[in-house]
This record gives sequence, structure tokens and C-alpha cells, in this order.
Amino acid sequence: MKVLIHDSAEAAIAAIANRIVEKVIAKPTCVLGLATGGTVEPVYEALVQKHEQQNVSYSRIRTFNLDEYVGLSPDHPMSYHHFMEKHLFGRTDIKSENTSIPFGNAINPNEEARRYEAAIKQCGGIDCQLLGIGENGHIGFNEPTSSLSSTVRIKTLAPETVRANSRYFKDIAEVPRLSITMGIGTILCAREIVLIAIGDNKSKAALEMIEGPLSARCPASALQLHPHAEVYLDEAAASQLTLRDYYEAVHPNGKVES
Ligand code: GLP
Repeated sequence: MKVLIHDSAEAAIAAIANRIVEKVIAKPTCVLGLATGGTVEPVYEALVQKHEQQNVSYSRIRTFNLDEYVGLSPDHPMSYHHFMEKHLFGRTDIKSENTSIPFGNAINPNEEARRYEAAIKQCGGIDCQLLGIGENGHIGFNEPTSSLSSTVRIKTLAPETVRANSRYFKDIAEVPRLSITMGIGTILCAREIVLIAIGDNKSKAALEMIEGPLSARCPASALQLHPHAEVYLDEAAASQLTLRDYYEAVHPNGKVES
């Protein structure tokens, strides 16, 4: 795992966005795994800027999002379909037929989960998966105790995730309790993984992911098994790491070779 510590949130965001763009330029038909959440909003803003100001084209990429709330239709304002349209898809030349997000309103959510896992495989798998991280160490909606080899399936949100995500809803009672999410096994099949964690509230999860034991208690610790995972952190998210001198010696200012 490459631990890349940046001196500000802005620097970490710019670095991960540049990394993704590098991959798109190197392979214009690449398959990207995408995430949602407050942390990735500025990452998408940076990708949009690259499109508008530097003519970066996403017209041939294929995308698969990590997850969706069960019960929300794509046009629901709190759905991850809506989030992606607002922050990235609707603002770039990504072709909508090349984007995939699980359908939370599918009549048979278990069948939808199987279909989604198969669709990723049919595409040849994900070249690069973007991840955020929950305060409890979740990735996608793989909450603590998720199987480390899980595939796309229905997961119940942890109470702390319901609370954290309620900031986007009018009332906590409106937050769906179920999601369809890529499994940890699905995520680990991506050829490369880039994860971003920003802020003090992510420092414990970052510590457990990077230096803690490999454990279902912290789902993101499964990234320790991945041969090509990069973790982008700001100072605050890195504040509890104990091997910081080492990370900074290997990657001064969060620099990583191309
Ligand atoms: C949600 C998403 C995760 C995301 C997490 C953190 O629960 N399912 O993919 O990583 O939120 O979000 P934020 O970046 O807003 O803290």
C-alpha cells in the first residue's frame, strides 16, 4: 500500500484527481470504479475542470459505481444516480450508456446485485477503483464484519453510517437502511485502487486501514491485500499514523512515481 500524505486537503484532492486523469489519458477506454460522498465531490470537480480547461475527454471510459440505496429510484434527489449526474456525468462528455450504478429500485434487489457483479466481469473488470472511507472504516457500504471476499449484495447500513449520511436527508427517518454495494471481494478484483481520506474524523479509520490488523472490523483494512493500492491523505487524516516518518521518506510530500 502506498501511503501518500499531503500537507492540505486541496493537495490530496488535486493529486488523486491527477492520478485518475493520468490513467484515462494512458488508456482512454479504461474502466473506472467510482464512489460517492462529500470527500469525492471536489475530486469530481477537479475532473470536470480538466475536461473544461484542458480538453481531457472521458468519452470512451466505462464506469461502475460502488453502491446505491435500496428503494431510491435514479431520479430521487438523494440517490447516488442523482449525485453522479450532478457532480460528474452531467458535466463532462462521459456517455450515459457507458455508466453503471446499481438500480436501488429494482423489483428484485438480490437479482440486481447478481446482474451488477456479472456486468463488471463482462466488461473485463475494473482498471482503477476510486474509494472514500467511512468513519467506521467502511468502503462502499461494506460495514464492519462484512466478508472480506464478498461480492455485490444487499447490506444493512450501520447506525453510525445512517447518522453520518442523514446530513443529506431532511430527516434521519428518510435515510434508507439497505444498500446494494460492491463487495470487498469485488473491490479487491480492481487492478488498481485509489482511496482518499480527508479530515480528523477519518484519522482513526485511516490508522486501522493502514496499520491495523487485517480484519472485518475495519473493512478498508482489506486493501492491505491489494498489490496496487494508493491511499491519499491530508495531514489531519494522517494524524494518528505511527509510521509516518517511513511513509514520508518513501513518498516525500505524497509524491508517487507514474
Ligand atoms: C458513503 C459511501 C461511501 C463513502 C462514505 C464516506 O457511505 N457509501 O462510499 O466512502 O459515504 O463519505 P464522506 O466522504 O461523505 O465522508
